[in-house]
Parts: sequence; structure tokens; C-alpha cells
Amino acid sequence: MTILDFIEKKKRGEPISMVTSYDSWSASLISQTEIDCVLVGDSIAMTLYGYDTSLHVDTETMAAHTAAVRRALPAKFLIADMPFLSYRKGLADTMKNVERLMQAGASAIKLEGAAGNTDTIHHIVESGIPVMGHLGLTPQSVYQLGGHKVQARSVEAAKLLSDQPNSLERAGCFSLVLEAVPSDTAARVAHDLAIPVIGIGAGPDVDGQVLVLQDLLGITTDLKPKFVRQWLDGASLIRKALNEYHREVVERTFPTAQESYT
Ligand code: KIV
Repeated sequence: MTILDFIEKKKRGEPISMVTSYDSWSASLISQTEIDCVLVGDSIAMTLYGYDTSLHVDTETMAAHTAAVRRALPAKFLIADMPFLSYRKGLADTMKNVERLMQAGASAIKLEGAAGNTDTIHHIVESGIPVMGHLGLTPQSVYQLGGHKVQARSVEAAKLLSDQPNSLERAGCFSLVLEAVPSDTAARVAHDLAIPVIGIGAGPDVDGQVLVLQDLLGITTDLKPKFVRQWLDGASLIRKALNEYHREVVERTFPTAQESYT
């Protein structure tokens, strides 16, 4: 998949599937599936590192995880999130961070919000680097938004969301993520844009879907947002396997002679 396929898929009405990955073992499994593209999301701060917001990762951490994913996933389109404030401290600093993520193996970068970002996006795109936008619930602005809440519920907020996607498209984004907005608003955004809109909590009438891997595999055991479907009860399966391992260690039925060196 290349950025040209994103547009082609939208033209053909073929939904795009995207999933997060932060490490080589999950990337290796994803590389053996038909999933279209992979995101090294800054949700890693919560999912892997246990923080309660995505504010706690920096570019070096994102680059290390991007490289780990890329080593196990040579052939898929890989998007790396630009972390909190990494594109808000001036162009030179931004481009250093973009360079770090691209050299770690990303095929594109993603950044949140439109206000104050369109010139930056334009410059990154003119430098030959594909940019994915991210609107709606933008978790790096969690304190400004008053929490991880559904966005664009009022008529005014929905109107605001009618300008931002167009400005991202004009700035050169090849695609955008739309997070936690009512389905009708998301459908309108997808309809108005030539670039694909990949939804998360944005209903069915967009051009693709993205979920956090651990959520869809049922590995995350805490809060489950309404938009998450679990295709596996991963937490139960893993707990069961660990308890069986523990029991067989305690009962001395593991390891057997076949599992030992002579
Ligand atoms: O960080 C992330 O995982 C994301 C997705 C939820 C879209 O941005």
C-alpha cells in the first residue's frame, strides 16, 4: 500500500483497515494478515507505559517503537504519530522530529489538529513526507477538551469540524483520522473530502477504521469505550495460559524430558 492506494481505495469505495502496533512481536503477526496499514500511535503512553494520557511519550520513544515495528513489518504502510508538542516548537525542531521518525522506518507521520498546523503540514508534505491528519477527539489536547470526550456534538462544534478537514486536505494531508464524533458528522466529513477519512468512534460511514490492537484483541482490561469491538477475549486466554504454566511448574509437569537437553 502507498499513499496513492489510499486515494484509489476511497475512489473505489473500498474501506481501509488500520491497527496500532508498538512492538516487533505484534507487528510480525500483523505482517501475516490482510490489514492495510499500521499506526505506531502515541496511545502507547497509555497502552504500554501505563500513563493516563498520551502526553508522556517523546520522539525518541516513538522512534524506538517505530523501528521495532518496521523490523518485523517490512512491507506494510507504517504511520508514526508525532508525539505531544513535537511539532509545535518551530519548524526546525519539527523537521528534526519528522526526520527521526522517518529514518526509524515510518512511511508517513500523523499529527493532531488543524489550528496552527497547516503551514507546518504543508512544509512537511513539500519535503516529500506524507502526512496523516487527526481531528475530532485529539488526545494530546485532553486538558483543553476537558477530557477524552465525544466531540462535535453541538451544532457549533460540528460546524467547526466542517472547516478543519478541508484545511488539512488543502495543506496536503493524504488521509485523516477522525476520532469520537457523531456518525452523521463523520459521514459528512468523509463525503466532502477527496482524501480518505479513517474513523475511530466515528461510525460506519467513513472510508476506513482504526482500532488499538490491544482493544480489539480484548487484552486491555480497564475501560472499554463504546466504539471498541473485541474479536478475541485475549485477557482471559492469556490469564488461563499463565495459570496453566504456573500450575505445571508447581506440579513439576513442566518441563518434561522432551523439553530438556541431554
Ligand atoms: O495513538 C493512537 O493510537 C491513535 C489512534 C487511536 C488513532 O491516534
